Amino acid sequence: MTMQRTFSIIKPDAFAKGAIGDILRMIEASGLKIIATKTLRMTKSQAEGFYAVHKERSFFGELVTFMSSGPVVVSVLEGDNAVLRYRDLMGPTDSTKAAPNTIRGTHGTNIERNAVHGSDSPENAVIEINYFFPESELRALLG
Ligand code: CMP
Repeated sequence: MTMQRTFSIIKPDAFAKGAIGDILRMIEASGLKIIATKTLRMTKSQAEGFYAVHKERSFFGELVTFMSSGPVVVSVLEGDNAVLRYRDLMGPTDSTKAAPNTIRGTHGTNIERNAVHGSDSPENAVIEINYFFPESELRALLG
């Protein structure tokens, strides 16, 4: 057993099309536990900071504009091997290549508008969770 946490964003495209409920249901049905969740709208600078590793990529500007274009749902997920399990549940980055039973296959549109984000490693999960859920906030919530 590797009990782990991972970080999830339900992106503005999924929020706008009314897919929040179904995506949270798919997460819970997979056996991952949603231990914290909230709705927010990222500022451009918050999105730039979150995706700083991609800042040299050609799609960075578009990505920041997209991620700050509307509300998102950020969550902390917990479970055995949560990072990999959530990545499997999401499917590949490019929604057009994702299997129909994955979140991106069901709710994504293309490589940018891909419905969800999930951490790519346990180390990045810690960084990403801290970015949106300060230690004190999680402690107050979870005890
Ligand atoms: P995410 O898992 O949130 O991590 C980085 C995001 O950048 C990715 O999902 C996509 O939304 C976006 N992305 C990755 N590659 C491309 C691309 N080639 N063109 C546009 N957006 C991309």
